Amino acid sequence: MTQKSASARAAAESVRFPDYVRNARARAWIADMVALCKPDDVQFVDGSDEENLRLCTQMVSSGVLVKLDSKLRPNSYLARSHPSDVARMEDRTFVCSRNREDAGPNNNWLDPAEMKAKLGKLFDGCMRGRTMYVIPFSMGPLGSHIAHIGIEISDSPYVVVNMRIMTRMGRAVWDVLGDKGEFVPAMHSVGRPLKAGEKDDVWPNNAEKYIVQFPEEKSIWSFGSGYGGNALLGKKCFALRIASVLAKEQGWLAEHMLILGLESPQGEKTYVAAAFPSACGKTNLAMLIPPKAFAGWKATTVGEDIAWIKPGKDGRFYAINPEAGYFGVAPGTSYTTNANAMDTLKANVIFTNVALTPEGDVWWEGMTKTPPARLIDWQGKDWSPGCGRPAAHPNARFTVHAAQCPSIDPQWENPDGVPISAFIFGGRRSTGVPLVMEAFNWDYGVYLAATMGSETTAANIGKVGVVRRDPFAMLPFCGYHMGDYFNHWLRMGRAIDSPPKVFGVNWFRLDKDGKFLWPGFGENMRVLKWIVERVSGKVGARQTPLGWMPRYDDIEWKGLEAVSRSQFDELMSVDSKVWQGELDAHGELFEKLKSRLPRQLALIRELFGMSL
Ligand code: OXD
Ligand code: MN
Repeated sequence: MTQKSASARAAAESVRFPDYVRNARARAWIADMVALCKPDDVQFVDGSDEENLRLCTQMVSSGVLVKLDSKLRPNSYLARSHPSDVARMEDRTFVCSRNREDAGPNNNWLDPAEMKAKLGKLFDGCMRGRTMYVIPFSMGPLGSHIAHIGIEISDSPYVVVNMRIMTRMGRAVWDVLGDKGEFVPAMHSVGRPLKAGEKDDVWPNNAEKYIVQFPEEKSIWSFGSGYGGNALLGKKCFALRIASVLAKEQGWLAEHMLILGLESPQGEKTYVAAAFPSACGKTNLAMLIPPKAFAGWKATTVGEDIAWIKPGKDGRFYAINPEAGYFGVAPGTSYTTNANAMDTLKANVIFTNVALTPEGDVWWEGMTKTPPARLIDWQGKDWSPGCGRPAAHPNARFTVHAAQCPSIDPQWENPDGVPISAFIFGGRRSTGVPLVMEAFNWDYGVYLAATMGSETTAANIGKVGVVRRDPFAMLPFCGYHMGDYFNHWLRMGRAIDSPPKVFGVNWFRLDKDGKFLWPGFGENMRVLKWIVERVSGKVGARQTPLGWMPRYDDIEWKGLEAVSRSQFDELMSVDSKVWQGELDAHGELFEKLKSRLPRQLALIRELFGMSL
C-alpha cells in the first residue's frame, strides 16, 4: 500500500458518520473527499434552527456576516463578498462531456480526465484549517417523484445557511435517500486553506476558479468562488446544467423559467412559464400585482427562476419549482417595482453586497427615491449621495424563503406540479422587437425562443449593454449542445397532445428620446391578459410576418392613460430592415450550431426571410 492511500484510508476512517447516513455510495464519496481535502473537521448538517443560529453567530463573530437590527429586519444578516467574487463566472464554467462535441459551442470544455487531474490538484488539502460541511438537499418537495437529491460538500458556512433557504435541506433528506438512493455529488471549496489562527473568510480572492459539470457522471465540482450560482450548487449547476441533461435523457424539460398563476375574476386559473435572461425582471413578473383596474384578477407565484416541466398523463405539461427560496437581485427592487418582494424581505433574509444604514438596516439603489444621507457601502466603506460609487453592488442579492412571499401560489409545493398553458420568452431589447407576439405553432415558437437576444446586464460578468443571443435564456445553463437542446424542444412538443402556445414579449423598447415606450411592472398584466385569452380563444389578433399580434382594441386599457394608440403602434411595429438584421444574427447563431442544428429551424428562418 502506498503512503498516500494509507493516509487517505486513515482520513476516511476518522469520519464519524451519523447513524442516519446509511447510503453506501454517499459514505464512500464523503470519505474520499475528506481524504482529498483534508479538513480539520467534518460536520453533517442537519438543517435545524439551532444549527443555523450557531453558524450565523459564528459568522458574525468572524466578520463574515453583519447582524441587522432585530426590530427593523428580524433574524436577518448582511454579507459582503470580496470585490472579485460578485457574480457568476461564465468564462470559468465548464461542461466536461466525454466527447467535446456533446458540450457544444455554448459551453467551455476540457477533457474530463484532464479536468479531473486539475481539480484533484486544486482540491488536495484545500480545506486545511477549515470545517467541511456535508449538506444533503432536495430539489423539489422532499420525497416527491419529481424531486432529485444532491449532496453538497462545502467549506463555507455561508453556503450552508444559503442552501438551507434555497433548497429543502437537512437530515430528512438522508431518510429519503435511504441505503441505495441516487444523488448528485456536488463538491465546493472556496479554495483557500486557513493557516493556524487565521480568521474564517468565505470570500476568496482566488485567481483559479472552476465551476465544472460532468454530464455523464452527473457530478459538480466548484473551486475558488464563494458566490451565488458558483457556490450554491443546487441552483444553476444542478437544477439547470445537470438537470437539463437528465431531462433530455428522461423526456422532460429543465428550464430557466418563472412560473406564474393568473386567475380571472370568473375563477379560471391559467399557469404560464416564462424565460428571460438574467436580471430582465423575471422576479418582478413572477410577483406581479395587477393594476387597480384589474380588480378580481389574481397573480400568484410558483417560481421565479427555474422550472422543471414534465409531460402529464392528460397530455399537458406540468411544472414544479425545484427551489425553496429566492436568490434575487436587490437593486431596483422597491415598493413601486415589486411590493411582493419587499414584503417577502421583511425578516429572515441573508443580504449580500447591499449597503448598510446607520440604524442597522439595508439599502440599495432604487429602493427609495432619495437615498439615506449616510451609508456603509457594499465594500464596507463610508458612503454618501454623490460620492461617485454605487452603495450596493449592481448584482447585490437577497436570499429568502419562498413561503414568505405574499403572492405564493397555493399549489407551489404540489409534487405533481401545475399545468402550463403558455410559454413566454422575452429579452431586453431597446429596438425592433415588438411588445408581444404569438408564434404560429410549436415549431415557430421554438424558433422564436432559440433566436432570442437580450442586452447584457450586471448578473453575468462581461460587457454590459450589448445584445447577445441567449436561446431560451439558457445559454449559460444548458448542460449540452444547444443544437441538441433545440431538437429536444421540438420533440417534446410532439410528445404531448396539447403543447402550450408560445409567445414572445419585450418590455424594454425605447422611443427615439431613449424613454421606455411601455410602463412595464404591474401593467404587464395587460399583455398577460391577452395571452391568457389567446389560450382560451377569447380574444382576437392580427397576423403579421412574425406571428399573431394584438390590435389596439384587443388589449384592456382601462385605468391606463400612458399608452396612446400611436405609442402602441410604435411598440408593435415590425421594421423589416431591423428584422433583416435580426435574421442575419439568427444565421450567425445557427452557423455556430450547424453540426447539430435541427433542419426545421433553418427552414423557418428562410420562411421568415421570405415573408418580411
Ligand atoms: C440568476 C441568474 O442569478 O440568472 O438567477 O443569473
Ligand atoms: Mn436566473
